[in-house]
This record gives sequence, C-alpha cells and structure tokens, in this order.
Amino acid sequence: MTSVAEIFRSMDYGPAPEADQPARHWLAKYEKVFGHFINGEWTEPGETFDVINPANREVLARVTQGTKADVDAAVAAAKAALPVWQSLDGHARARYLYALARGIQKHSRLFAVLESMDNGKSIRETRDIDVPLVSRHFYHHAGWAQLLESEFPGYKGAGVVGQIIPWNFPLLMLAWKIAPALAAGCTIVLKPAEFTPLTALLFCDIAREAGLPGGVVNVVNGDGRTGAALVDHPDVDKIAFTGSTEVGRVIRKATAGSGKKLSLELGGKSPFIVYDDADLDSVVEGVVDAIWFNQGQVCCAGSRLLVQEGVADRLIQKLRARMERLRIGSPLDKAVDMGAIVAPVQLERIRKLVEQGKEEGATMWQPSWACPTDGYFYPPTLFTDVTPASTIAQVEIFGPVLVSMTFRTPEESVALANNTQYGLAASIWTESINLALDIAPKLKSGVVWINSTNLFDASAGFGGYRESGFGREGGREGMWEYLKRARRSADKARPVARSTGSRKKLDIPMTETAEQRAESRLPQIDRTPKLFIGGKQTRPDQGYSRRILGPTGELVGEVPDGNRKDLRNAVEAAHTAWKGWSKSTGHLRGQILYYIAENLSVRADEFASRLSAMDGRAKREAGREVEWSIRRLFSYAAWADKWDGAVHNVPIRGVALAMHEPIGVMGIACPEEFPLLGFVSTMAPAMAIGNTVVAIPSQGYPLAATDFYSVLETSDVPAGVVNIVTGDKNALAKTLAEHDDVESIWYFGDREGVRAVELASAHNMKRTWASWQFRDFLDPDDGEGREFLREATQVKNIWVPYGE
Ligand code: NAI
Repeated sequence: MTSVAEIFRSMDYGPAPEADQPARHWLAKYEKVFGHFINGEWTEPGETFDVINPANREVLARVTQGTKADVDAAVAAAKAALPVWQSLDGHARARYLYALARGIQKHSRLFAVLESMDNGKSIRETRDIDVPLVSRHFYHHAGWAQLLESEFPGYKGAGVVGQIIPWNFPLLMLAWKIAPALAAGCTIVLKPAEFTPLTALLFCDIAREAGLPGGVVNVVNGDGRTGAALVDHPDVDKIAFTGSTEVGRVIRKATAGSGKKLSLELGGKSPFIVYDDADLDSVVEGVVDAIWFNQGQVCCAGSRLLVQEGVADRLIQKLRARMERLRIGSPLDKAVDMGAIVAPVQLERIRKLVEQGKEEGATMWQPSWACPTDGYFYPPTLFTDVTPASTIAQVEIFGPVLVSMTFRTPEESVALANNTQYGLAASIWTESINLALDIAPKLKSGVVWINSTNLFDASAGFGGYRESGFGREGGREGMWEYLKRARRSADKARPVARSTGSRKKLDIPMTETAEQRAESRLPQIDRTPKLFIGGKQTRPDQGYSRRILGPTGELVGEVPDGNRKDLRNAVEAAHTAWKGWSKSTGHLRGQILYYIAENLSVRADEFASRLSAMDGRAKREAGREVEWSIRRLFSYAAWADKWDGAVHNVPIRGVALAMHEPIGVMGIACPEEFPLLGFVSTMAPAMAIGNTVVAIPSQGYPLAATDFYSVLETSDVPAGVVNIVTGDKNALAKTLAEHDDVESIWYFGDREGVRAVELASAHNMKRTWASWQFRDFLDPDDGEGREFLREATQVKNIWVPYGE
C-alpha cells in the first residue's frame, strides 16, 4: 500500500469516482429504451440505435431513430402550441424558464453524471462548467422573456423552430438553443446528436416537471436523416444548427429560397497567440484549457498555437512537461483531466489527421504514458515544425491535437492567425494591454479572449464569421435570431423587375478625349452612363448597354450591361478601399454621408425629373422620394458615430466588450420599389458602419443610381467605398454571392433571386439578408434603422479579464 510519505513525494491522485447509481436508476425507469418526446408525451419506441458510453463501450440505452412521420408529428405539435405560447405574456414565459433553471439546478448532479457517461467528457467539466452554464442560460433568458415587450418592441417570436445540435456539449447546446427560443415566444422541435441524446431526454422530464405546456418543446431523436427532415419541413420557420461546416453548408443550400430564418454555428481552427512578454506559466494552463478541455472536441478550441520566436522553445518545453502530468481516464473520476473521445469514427478521424501531419513533415510529440484501452481514448498531442499551409494547420481536427507555429512580429501573428477559412474565436496572450487591444480588432473572429480562453456566458454573444457560420448565441445579440418584426408592408408584393429594352453594343468610343472626360463629370440626362468602380466611371467589360424605357415605351436612357469581370473589378476596388474605410472614424463617415445629402439636395430637382421620366410618376411625387433620400442620408450620418457596441456584464472580474465592426465588402442588390430611396437606404447603413459596397441598382429603374455616382464623386467618398454595377440584377447578384471576397450580401428582389443568392452564398458561407417582400421605404419603421444597421454589423466579443 502507498504510504502517506510517498503520496507527498509523488503528489499523485488516487481514483475519486463519482457515483453513477442515480443515472442508472433514471435509465432503468425507462427500461433503457426511449421514443421521442412529442406534445408533452413519450412516444412508443420504434426502430432504435444504441447509445454507447465511449469510456468503456457499455450500451447505456437504445433510442428511436426518428422518421419523417415522427418529425411531422413533432412539427405539428409545435405549430399547434405556438398560438398558446405566444399569447402568454413575457412574465408567464419567464416563470416557465425560471422553473426550468431551478429544475436543472435541482438535478444538476444527475445531469452531470449522465452527460459524462453519454459523452465521455470528465465529470469535472460537466459538473463545474457545462451544467452551471446551462442553468445560467435558463435564468438569463427568463430575464429576456420578462423584458421582451419593453426591450424588443415591435418584435415577436419567429414561429416554430427546428434546432439541431452536436454531441460535444449535448446539454449546453440544448440550453443555448432552447432558452432564447422559449424567451422569444417560439415553439421548438429539437434533434439531439445521435451519439449523445440522453441529457436531452432527461431535460424532457424536467420540462414536464416544470409544467411546460405540451408541444412547446419537442425532442425527436435520430441521425442526419432526421435532421434533414426537420430542415426540409415546410412548417418550420427557423433552423438553428451547431455542427460541422460541411453539414452547415448542406443546410444553407436546403433552406435557400424557403424564407426560413437560419443561424449556423460551425467549425473553427482558432489561433492561440503568445507574444514574447506573456506569462508563460499562465499560458501553459491556458493551453490546457484551450485544446485539452473536452478532449479538444470544441468548436472554438485554441488548436493553433502561434508563438513569438524568442519564447517558442521555452514554451514548448514547459508544455511537454505539463502534458506529461495530464491525467486521462474514466470520465467519472473527479481527478482526471481528460476523458474519452465521443465515438470510434471521431477517434479514427483524429488518428488519420495525425498520421497525415507526420507524413507532411511535422514533428509529433505525445507523453510517455499510455491511454486506457477499454474505451475510445486519445492522448494529448503536440505538433511542432508545422507549415501554415499543411493539412493539420488548416483542417479542424476536433481532438486533443495542438499544432504550433512561430512568428516574428505582431503583423506576422495577425497574418498567420487570419490564414484560415474559419473565424470563430481567438486568444491573445501578452502582458501589454496596448498590444492586446491593438491585435484584437485585427483578428477575423467572432470572439477574442485576452489572457484567457474558452470563457462563455449567457449574457455575451458567441458565434463566428466566414466558414464558422453566422448568427450569435447568448445575450441580446442571440435574441434577434429568434425574433421577427411585425411588418406592416410585408404582405404587399414587390414590383416585378421590369425587363428593359433591347441589349446593344455601346456606341461610345472606347477611348475618351479630354473634352469627353471633362464632360463626363457633368452628366446630362440623356448621356450613356458608365459603371462606377474604384471611384472612376468605367466602361463595361463587354461594351454592351441596356436601354431603359419610360412608362410609355420611350427611351429614357441607357445603362451599361455589367458582367462577371466588372464585378470582379468592383470587388477588388471595394477590398482596397476597405482597409482605410473600415478604420475611419464614425465622425468622418457621418460627415461624408452629410456631404452626400447636401450634394443630392442641390440636384434634387434633376433627380425628381429623372425618376418621373422613368416610371411616369408626377414630379411632385418623385420629389418626395428624393426628399426622403436626403433624410435617410441624414439618419445614417447621425447613426455613424452612435451605433455603439456594449459592455456585457459577464460573471468574471473583467468585461466582455461587444464591439460593432463592419463585416467587410458587401454586395447589395437594390429593391425595385423606390429606385433612388431603395438604393440610398441600403447603401448608406452599410457605409455608415465602415463596410464598402458593390451595389447593383434596381434593374427596371437604374438611372437614379447611375446618376448618383456623380453625387458620390463630389462628396469626398474615397474611391472604391461605393461601386455601382448595372445590368441583369439576378445574374449579377448570384455572381456576387459566389464571390469568395464578398463577405455579406443583401438582396431585395424576387423569390427566385433569393433562392439563387442563398444557394450561391453557401460557397464561402457568407452572411445573407435576402427578401422578396416589398418594403415601404417611405415608412421609417420599415425602411431604416437598427434592423439595417444590425445586418451590416459584425459583433465581436472581446473578453478582457483584469486584476493581478
Ligand atoms: P455533424 O455536423 O454531422 O453533426 C451535427 C448534428 O447535425 C448532429 O445532430 C447530426 O445528426 C446532424 N446532421 C448530420 N447531417 C445532417 C443533415 N444533412 N441535415 C441535418 N442535420 C444533420 O458532425 P459530426 O459528423 O458528428 O462530426 C464531424 C465533424 O464535424 C467533427 O469532427 C468536427 O470537426 C465537426 N463538428 C463541429 C462541431 C462544432 O461545434 N463546431 C460539433 C460537432 C462536429
């Protein structure tokens, strides 16, 4: 037997197993076989699959594979429950959420043990991190339910929501999905991951205990096929998904053109950046939490260690020493650091990628001890000598594998950090607050942790951009995902994009004389406009134009017929301009918007004539649209220095700064209604926040927008901030949606166009805001304000702990 003296010497822990009887008792209550939870009742089990404890391969339960009929029944129940749930006031919904939070707290140990058995993660994590965060989420959202009417006036629940969650945080992801949906007044069909359904099923018991009305939360088990049936269901109004980028892309395509709201939390390859003045001992503990937490099966895992050259060797040495002391074993042992990998297929994926890393020339290191063999375990692994383009530096491994690279300067660290298709999270380690706060805004990620990692809270938004998806979960930011605005004009049909007159080769010479150049700065109503790219009036690539006809078929002008190449040039110009524009002050952007308004007002009469010539409106009527365009520019000039972020009240000694950042290059396909006002109302909010724009004006009435570039030219708008390409709106919008360097696309057109844009956007998972519904731009409630600003903004949450 080990003596006390020996224990003092070795400081080894003995086993400290958590009792699993309560979980076994709960499973036995259901004879270890589960159906679905629909309309507040358990269904009879159907065809089942096994649920395995990955730490010892024991079959814990058998769970029913959901069929299309099961999904239909669950959606029908959620739809039937919707009017009841929405008719409750916020306080009543808050009471239910509060009861759920209490219920989870009361059964917290049972939840923690069951989660560890089902997923293989350590009890330390389920007990101290997952479950407390789950009840915190329900409490926080009980608050949003209570405050909904006053804090989100004019908004209501999006309807029936389909939620599909992964296996890495089964209960926490359930909470992140269900709590805000309930608070917003939505009813729910949730599909847990097939590897880890058990805590979701236990949650159904808690929902019953809390007296939640039948049909408000439904749980259908099954694999991807069940998920796909839920995504495709016509009565589902919103899909929320967390999982792989691959499946996220499938879902983006499947929902394209359906009108369903969509939020996607996908993969990541998050950088963990260490500067040479960092406290290396803290860094080591940070790395443990970044990549060995939950065996690295974390979407925001700090899986790429980027170290400044001078301290790299020392850090790697310290890390290896720490890895040697990590303990891996039974997840129910309170003294282990790491548990098991969720399933053999994931273990296999990790092994394959590690092999590939070795083949590609990187150096692998693992501790000397061996993993237990009775389950699916994988040791903590460190790669050095990794090249930035290698597979293991680019692909999400989703396992306890850290790849490390070095850099010399802060600029290089940013370039290396952003060298990924993902944009979920990043972690910065330095003792210099100046450096940390300089780097944080430069990182392309939705979350940045300073001298910390993997911090989460219900009050702070979480989510990414690029191929990490879109939408936020948590806090006020996350509530928007489950709300929709009650719009007065939404049912009105958008005017159809008029087909314009025949296409013809431009009859203007391809080189300009000096006089023509001078003349082109003084456009007249009947001259052929050009495209506006990079601050210059340019000829279209193919030299074709479109004839724009008036209401009685007379020719009112011609516009260039832009193509793919013109768009490419426009995107490039917008990119170049973004570097400066995104960093300019809100004050400056406001000044420029005022200046545009001023110049438009000088030419108000000319614009009104043009509008009335195009669509036959009385000139007075057209003048009203011009006047509103001037007002709108004033509105966004006003907003430019007032669209503040927030400081979230997170439970750490520190703050989480929710920064409002521009998204990047935005493609905007303008509405047909209100040719000038629609153009101004979409361009101006994007500009106000610091985005640069490639605009496709209304197809039927583009002249108002093409006249506008001469206003832009005289208003100090830097070259490339706004680019205008006319032509076939749907074809151009689709091309922009496919473009890798366009970060977001707005489309206001017809249903077919919405579908095409959403489908094409799946290519790089860009954010879309696409609608075929008419918008009354003369109504400030409908045509301007926070909705537009939100859609043009990326929220980055920067966590800044403070204190020694
Ligand atoms: P997955 O994306 O296939 O699974 C996530 C959820 O989506 C599960 O509930 C699954 O049943 C469901 N699903 C699968 N196909 C679907 C479809 N066509 N339509 C609707 N729902 C569908 O992830 P998987 O296969 O379990 O893991 C593969 C890789 O994905 C991992 O190695 C990891 O890289 C990544 N992953 C990332 C997660 C994250 O949090 N970012 C979570 C889970 C996996």
